[in-house]
Amino acid sequence: MTSIALRAPQRLRGVIQVPGDKSISHRAVIFNAVAAGSAQVSNFLAGADCLATIACVRALGVDVQRAGTEVRITGAGLHGLCEPADVLDCGNSGTTLRLLAGLLAGRPLFAVLSGDASLRSRPQRRIVAPLRALGAWLDGRDDGDRAPLAVRGATLSGGRYALPVASAQVKSALLLAGLAGSGPLTLTGKIASRDHSERMLQAMGVDLRLSPEQISLHPPTDPQLPAPLTLRVPGDPSSASFWWVAAAIHPDAELTTAGVCLNPTRTGALEVLRAMGAAITISNERVEGSEPVGDVTVRSSQLRGASIGGELIPRLIDEIPVLAVAAACAEGDTVIRDAQELRAKETDRIATVAGGLAALGVAVEPTADGMAIAGRGPRLVGAELASHGDHRLAMAWAVAALVARGETRVHDPDAVTVSYPGFWETLAGLRA
Ligand code: S3P
Repeated sequence: MTSIALRAPQRLRGVIQVPGDKSISHRAVIFNAVAAGSAQVSNFLAGADCLATIACVRALGVDVQRAGTEVRITGAGLHGLCEPADVLDCGNSGTTLRLLAGLLAGRPLFAVLSGDASLRSRPQRRIVAPLRALGAWLDGRDDGDRAPLAVRGATLSGGRYALPVASAQVKSALLLAGLAGSGPLTLTGKIASRDHSERMLQAMGVDLRLSPEQISLHPPTDPQLPAPLTLRVPGDPSSASFWWVAAAIHPDAELTTAGVCLNPTRTGALEVLRAMGAAITISNERVEGSEPVGDVTVRSSQLRGASIGGELIPRLIDEIPVLAVAAACAEGDTVIRDAQELRAKETDRIATVAGGLAALGVAVEPTADGMAIAGRGPRLVGAELASHGDHRLAMAWAVAALVARGETRVHDPDAVTVSYPGFWETLAGLRA
């Protein structure tokens, strides 16, 4: 499909099962790939990014059987991966490339990691530099900053590393490298980012100690570790956030997203929407595996502008495109700052989000680390909007179309398959 035409519906009602969390799905496959035995993962996200992870892990000699959202992984153990016969194609997925670079850096094999044009344009020095400091050999274009990345694994030392960016991908790459290290690894600095890797490693019996200042990992010596981890992947809060904003900005809406991961490192968008005045109810809160989960209901709301920055940013970084749509529909101004990481995502999301909002008739000023958005209330103007091949932009523009006057056309809508394969079908169901 080259484009999709959308108009604002009269009402929006529904209970939505969003697909499994992308970050947890990647990790469930990668960590179980080096576990000592078989694990069953249900509600796996069968989106393009996580399927790329499965393909790469299979190319490393791991048996992965998938039927829809059910996945069985027979781990090769910490030292059982095979040298891949070809380039590992990570597609559009930064998580696949960075976590696998960490995993492979400490294994005695040679591998090349690459992906699509977007992934090959994204910065990799953030993993290459610390992995080199641990004794790994990695190289790539631009002195190791761009994929294709070549990895010749080595026995890594442990040690200390202070994370200069709050990035769960960097943190997880180092923890994966540290699993096969010759001594303990301690991470300090900007360790506050999504913590699914830490939760999963602890649940797999790995000696991982956490404090607000540092993470220490002791490489397992018991061949039964890491123990395989069977789990159900909770719903993805980043996918659910599109429906939260849709319900909040639409004048006649009530939407429930059921079984969503409510890990506090992922719920910054809920906090911001609440501060903007969104009517949000959380029910059925429970713990599934290592993660808190609940149902989130959002109703039509009068939103006001907000200030978004500081420690909140890593907790809502992927939700900024759709929060920008919420800000555009609010009364008053919203300022987003400290979000320079947006420039290193699937697209430069400061530029691409600002460009789309401007087309919708919104006064928006991009800055080096965010943007200022002048809220228009519910008065967006239908427009032609490019997804630029970025899944989260395609979905953010679909949400804008739910309140825009006239027709909105989203180009390259298939980009959603990266993280939310059934997005357009679910949207059609809510409008019916
Ligand atoms: C992810 C971490 C985040 C996020 C990405 C998924 C992960 O990136 O934007 O979509 O699964 O670890 P950074 O860690 O680079 O901030």
